[in-house]
Amino acid sequence: MCGIIGYIGFKQSLPILMEGLRRLEYRGYDSTGVALIENGKIVVSKKAGKVSELQSELKNYSSPSTIGIGHTRWATHGAPTDANAHPHKDQNGTIALIHNGIIENYQTIKKKLLAEGHTFQSETDTEILSHFIGSLYEKTNDLFTATRLALTEVEGAYAILIISSKEKDKIIAARKGSPLVIGVGENEMFIASDATALISHTKKVVYLEDGEIVQISNNSFITKTITDEEIEKQVHELDLSFEQIEKSGYDHFMLKEIYEQPDSLTNSLRGRVLLEEGDAKLGGLEQVSDLLKNTNRIIITSCGTSWHSSLVGEYIIEQLAGIPVEVEYASEFRYRDPVINKNDVILAVSQSGETADTIAAIREAKRKGATALGIVNAVGSSIARETAAGVYIHAGPEIGVASTKAFTSQVAVFGLIGLLLGRQRGLQIDKGRIIASELLSLPDKIKKALQSADEVKQIVNEFKDSSHFLFLGRGTNFPTALEGALKLKEISYIHAEGYPAAEMKHGPIALIDNKMPVVFIAPKDMLYEKVMSNIQEVRARGGRIIAIANEDDHEIDEFAEFVIRVPRTLSYFGPIINIIPLQLLAYYMALARNCNVDQPRNLAKSVTVE
Ligand code: AGP
Repeated sequence: MCGIIGYIGFKQSLPILMEGLRRLEYRGYDSTGVALIENGKIVVSKKAGKVSELQSELKNYSSPSTIGIGHTRWATHGAPTDANAHPHKDQNGTIALIHNGIIENYQTIKKKLLAEGHTFQSETDTEILSHFIGSLYEKTNDLFTATRLALTEVEGAYAILIISSKEKDKIIAARKGSPLVIGVGENEMFIASDATALISHTKKVVYLEDGEIVQISNNSFITKTITDEEIEKQVHELDLSFEQIEKSGYDHFMLKEIYEQPDSLTNSLRGRVLLEEGDAKLGGLEQVSDLLKNTNRIIITSCGTSWHSSLVGEYIIEQLAGIPVEVEYASEFRYRDPVINKNDVILAVSQSGETADTIAAIREAKRKGATALGIVNAVGSSIARETAAGVYIHAGPEIGVASTKAFTSQVAVFGLIGLLLGRQRGLQIDKGRIIASELLSLPDKIKKALQSADEVKQIVNEFKDSSHFLFLGRGTNFPTALEGALKLKEISYIHAEGYPAAEMKHGPIALIDNKMPVVFIAPKDMLYEKVMSNIQEVRARGGRIIAIANEDDHEIDEFAEFVIRVPRTLSYFGPIINIIPLQLLAYYMALARNCNVDQPRNLAKSVTVE
């Protein structure tokens, strides 16, 4: 997710662009840049780092330009460097383009452009698009048409803004899968990723829809579909505060990120599921393909929520690929002088890519001869740079301290890795197709699981004064229980423990009384009857049962005081669906207890110290 802004009007564009980028920085903050049309030329200033760093570089620069575009980046292709920052020019430097999204077929387009003699300055998919549009522009001599024709051949998601030194009185914009909104002023127009960058200038907005392209001048705009049909757009009046818009209308970033999960999971899977072949395609692992084919052990190391998704990864990789997997707390692994064999693979999982213990763990493993790979969200982060290869989860910036969408995307990426390794090692194509198909069904199943919010609120009302919670699950839902407990304790400050359901008999059952709420994750899988026995054990001691159960399971109603229903899925992906009501439980419990949801006490989003 990146932040983009454009301005055309009668005022100096640079201050407007910089203010807009500051307001959009929550959408992505690893590099920034602006492009202006000044004295008939495109002038670009861009650099790695936050908006404030670009701001200080430009503090003595005053431009007469009244048209420009600006970008704050959340890297997807290419590390956050000056060269990879947006805007990107075409081969002749006639246009400048900024982009939010992912161009899936950029390699195919790049091959054609290289054959035509194009040279590139960055590693980004965006620069390819800029050159592609520029090459068509030379033929059409009309930026609107060139952009529209180019986009008919582009696959993926985009929100783009383009300016040209040959057409100084217009900005071209287009969207598919990433948001864009026009701000309508008096003899001036604004366009941005969302209204946070517009609200201080105008409350009149026009929302672009997927497949639409628009030519904007200072007092009008023409909108067409990519297939060249003209369309009329309605002007709306904004009635949200800046604060609400930044959170897309949600009260907290955490709630926004919980509800983003159908989209973030779609982005994690985008272009990576090979349904026909029953396989997965992970470009970031191609250069270590032989290593993965021959390794006899994978050690997964991580912290917190990432450690929980790692535990799910252990089940998935062992069950699909038959490779022995060990999961290690990074903070323990780094000091216990672990035995590492030369063809071991160490796999670091980290949302931020900056967790000190995890970085230290991979350094220790590399020192002992292992090859380190990463499953990371933040592109170009320390862990991404210190590992030989890896997979970006593409969940977009996660602002809330309590991790939500990163967890579900990490588990989905483990599903892709398990499928890839499994098919390398004999997993049958028909089983692969079942897994591939289930992966693609998950975003819609998350949407259904999100409909449990009202039942969750009833449970919160009943247990908001509780001091303790137990979360119990079996198989891949043991890590789900751990994650549900972590969510609750870290934002509502209620003491909560996750346990394997069978393990309860070996101690925790002593805690059960009629005040103890016990959350059972009880999907109708091969362990269902065992979980039902554990439910009976808790009931017999007066415990209060909250069950996360499948939609078609009414057997459990008799034994559970509260039942939250979620769609069925394969056991590998159960955590992705079953964690949704538990994320909502933690969120609404924290609200009920007046806790700071997005910045819980004592916590930090990234633990960069030991
Ligand atoms: C999760 O809700 C916590 N904020 C925390 O446990 C986090 O998962 C842990 O610090 C690891 O962070 P990372 O994934 O960025 O490495």
